[in-house]
Amino acid sequence: MSRELLRRYLEYFRDLGIRELYRRPPRNDAPQGRDARRFEEPSEAPAAALLVHAPTEGRTETLDEIRADLGDCTRCRLHQGRTQIVFGDGNPKAKLVFVGEGPGADEDAQGIPFVGRAGQLLTQMIENTARREGISLLRSDVYICNVVKCRPPNNRTPEADEIETCSPFLFRQLAAIRPKAICALGATAARALLGTREGVTKLRGRWYRWRDIPVMVTYHPSYLLRPYNQNAKREAWEDLKKVLHYVYD
Ligand code: URA
Repeated sequence: MSRELLRRYLEYFRDLGIRELYRRPPRNDAPQGRDARRFEEPSEAPAAALLVHAPTEGRTETLDEIRADLGDCTRCRLHQGRTQIVFGDGNPKAKLVFVGEGPGADEDAQGIPFVGRAGQLLTQMIENTARREGISLLRSDVYICNVVKCRPPNNRTPEADEIETCSPFLFRQLAAIRPKAICALGATAARALLGTREGVTKLRGRWYRWRDIPVMVTYHPSYLLRPYNQNAKREAWEDLKKVLHYVYD
């Protein structure tokens, strides 16, 4: 890692109130059994390669406090086109958090993540897969949020500087919730959480870590809505089953 990149990481952790960093020692507390091999990390995952202590001073902040700090955010250009900030939705004590890319038109209008077509698919995937697997779970039991909290114009992919500006709020949400696992939906979420540019096809189906929390990468529901992606749909159901069993068994 270059000195400049390292400086930016340290500055960024300092902004989060994090004072101590240390390299993670080899771990052996990954889930055992069928999936014991799964805590591999992508080769270029600088942020995930560091285990970060919780802030040393004070208690963990709440989602409401983080939302209040976000305020009527104008920290990046995305604020110019938004109707409203889309912070997150669901159980603040969720064992499972889904992270998407950024709000689309429906989310921007309603202020709730994943309520459009992709959102309806995600909700069905969560609830139907859980039911079929004998797990009692509703969308309202998990927490759903995005890497960026304002809708990018024409639903374009968020730019690197927009992700860099907004992702500390995502990280604070995750630190506040402390879920048992995170499911990264698509490449932008994978990149923000794992610091990798590797594509979803390569990353999916295996476990990584954000800090000490297991992360499963899978396809974004918008991708699954495209008609020719039958294989990807099947793979996404497989990924989701793995996550649900790990979290709720
Ligand atoms: N796509 C996302 O990534 N997030 C949403 O909230 C909706 C669609």
